[in-house]
Amino acid sequence: MSALSALADEAGVPVVEDAAQAIGAAIDGHQAGTLGTAGCFSFYPTKNLGGFGDGGLVTTNDDDLADRVRSLRDHGASAPYQHNLVGGNFRLDALQAAVLRVKLPRLTDWTAGRRANATRYGELFQRLSATAVTSLPVEPDGRTHVYHQYVIRTRARDSLRVHLASKGVTTGLYYSVPLHWQPCFANIAGARATFPHAELASVETLALPIYPELTLAQQKFVAETISEYVP
Ligand SMILES: Cc1ncc(COP(=O)(O)O)c(C=O)c1O
Repeated sequence: MSALSALADEAGVPVVEDAAQAIGAAIDGHQAGTLGTAGCFSFYPTKNLGGFGDGGLVTTNDDDLADRVRSLRDHGASAPYQHNLVGGNFRLDALQAAVLRVKLPRLTDWTAGRRANATRYGELFQRLSATAVTSLPVEPDGRTHVYHQYVIRTRARDSLRVHLASKGVTTGLYYSVPLHWQPCFANIAGARATFPHAELASVETLALPIYPELTLAQQKFVAETISEYVP
């Protein structure tokens, strides 16, 4: 991130962090959402902090930008009946706000639960030696991962997924089509370039069940089901 920020500073380009599900994650003590010019969080129901419907949050320490975002959120109004900008209706629904207020105080415990479960997967895989798995998530020094997903890599991704599903274990793909292959970006510069890391990740990554309440027995079952699989 610091390399990207240095490059962006040099070019005069603001960095907008997509921190959609990274609430609570940190690099060297700096929280996600504070690393760029602005950070964007999602409160979609499946996120680490999710409402009952759509919602989101923008963070910034730039007062002018904050005013602009507040205004754009409410049809570009700066005061009642005063529209200096053309905005939209992006206000947080009161019902979602109420749900989020109840859930927010529990977020620290939920994050701790996800992190403990990630550690437990790591220990289980170490013990079981799953040959199909080529890598597990890592948390380098100074980083705090909040494990919205626990994503493993495997060259037998699709067949392992079918095997897990046959045993009742649901997995996720985030994401199976890289952005530059999306039809909506077919006409932009760079869409025909190759991005080998993104392309490989799109066929090798597999997200295992991870949520705060996942039990040891459930994790053992997932890890054993993977380790018994021979591609
Ligand atoms: C990394 C990332 N960014 C942004 C989004 C979009 O969030 P929303 O649908 O709340 O705008 C998602 C949704 O899954 C996401 O995973």
